[in-house]
Order: sequence, then structure tokens, then C-alpha cells
Amino acid sequence: MGAGPGALDLLTLRARDRLLEADAVVYDRLVAPEVIALAPASAERFDVGKGPGDSHRQAFINELLVELSARHERVVRLKGGDPFIFGRGAEEVEVLRARGVEVEIVPGLSSLLSAPALAGIALTTRGVSRRVALVSAVGEGGEPTPVGDLATHVDTLVVAMGSGRRREIAEELRAAGLELETPVASVEWASWPDQRVRWGTLEELGDWTGRAPAVLVVGDVARGVEGARE
Ligand SMILES: C[S@@+](CC[C@H](N)C(=O)[O-])C[C@H]1O[C@@H](n2cnc3c(N)ncnc32)[C@H](O)[C@@H]1O
Repeated sequence: MGAGPGALDLLTLRARDRLLEADAVVYDRLVAPEVIALAPASAERFDVGKGPGDSHRQAFINELLVELSARHERVVRLKGGDPFIFGRGAEEVEVLRARGVEVEIVPGLSSLLSAPALAGIALTTRGVSRRVALVSAVGEGGEPTPVGDLATHVDTLVVAMGSGRRREIAEELRAAGLELETPVASVEWASWPDQRVRWGTLEELGDWTGRAPAVLVVGDVARGVEGARE
């Protein structure tokens, strides 16, 4: 199940209903305590939050889900945003189905789409952006994802997990031909009480510091919608 970007009222009604009936909840780092609190007090709770590159825990999580499914009727696996957008949800589903466990997939509001909206950025502004790419700045083992090759093929880049790589991303995009004045915005902790939006240009991006989690938006839409900017 996806928990959305954080705020309790951005959880879907279906996700809420499943949580209310959960026998066990296995949740990630970016799931708000208010969301987990919806599960009955009697439900078993497991915090399996991983840091970036901490992927060796995946095998442990898979086994935990299999083991819990053998003991309980309703096990909720709760992930930030949407479980199938850079969330490794597919791998867990495959493992469970291979072991004969019945799985229901409950989508969530991905931070890659909702963080920009919460900041007042319309990813597909008419006449400005018709091609949007979603990018995870780092791969499985923490290795960087190239972004330069994409830069000139889309109107807007939405980058997750890029906080530790702002300088390299800025350099790659520059080298690929993007102008220094290209608008850039970083939306940190979207929908959480300390949400913060940083507005600027590609020239400034490399020097930005800030707190993860953040979604980075690159392209003309990153100026924000007049009057709706956070
Ligand atoms: C492993 S990915 C998971 C994405 C998640 N499945 C989704 O659909 O939102 C984690 C990255 O999502 C982004 N992220 C998640 N929650 C966020 C939030 N509330 N505000 C800003 N970025 C967020 C950050 O880029 C973070 O590094």
C-alpha cells in the first residue's frame, strides 16, 4: 500500500480502510506516525525503514512479509508515496505471490507528482510541458543515474533521491546543454508540517543545501504557478 507523501489526509480512503483492519503493519521511513496509528492497537508493528543504499535489508523484509502472512490474515506493507514508483513494491509482490500469498495492491499518491503540486508547480502546464520524466537519482546500490541524456528530450525532469547529488546533477544538465537560467525548484518534506520549497535556477542548484526527502523539478514549470507558489 502507498501512504502518500506524508500528511494523514492525503492517504486514500482504501488505504485507511485496510489499515483499520490490519493484523500487522510493516512500514518504511517516510510514513507518518499518524498514518501508522490508524492500525488497531493490537496490530504488530515493524519499522523496516531503510536509508539510501541500505538495500541488503530487502531480503529480510521479504522474509518478514512471508512469515507474517503465514500467521495473519491481513498484513499491511506500507510505503511512502506510491508503492510502484521507486518503491520496490513489485519485488515484494513477486516474492509473496511466488510463495502463494494473496496480494492486493493499493496505490498511493506519489511524492514525485504530489510534492510539485503542493508547492504550486503544475508539471504539465499547457504550452510549456508535455513531456515529463520521473527519475531516481540513485540506483539500487547507491550508484548515480545519468540525467544528462534525458535533459534535452523532455520539458520537465522530476528527480527523487537527488539531495546528495545536486552538484553532479547540475553539472550534467549544464553539459547536456540546459541554460544556466533554467528554473529549478526543490520541494522538501512535502505535506509534512515543515514542508519547504526552494526556488531558483540551474546555476544555483549545485550550491543548495537542504534536507531530504526532497523532490527536484527542473524546467520552465519550476517557476511555479503565478499566485499558487508556496
Ligand atoms: C525511495 S523514493 C520513494 C518514492 C515513493 N515511493 C513515492 O512514490 O513518493 C524516496 C524519495 O521520494 C521523495 N520523497 C518521498 N516523500 C517525500 C516528501 N514528503 N517530500 C519530498 N520528497 C519526498 C524523495 O526524493 C525521496 O528521496
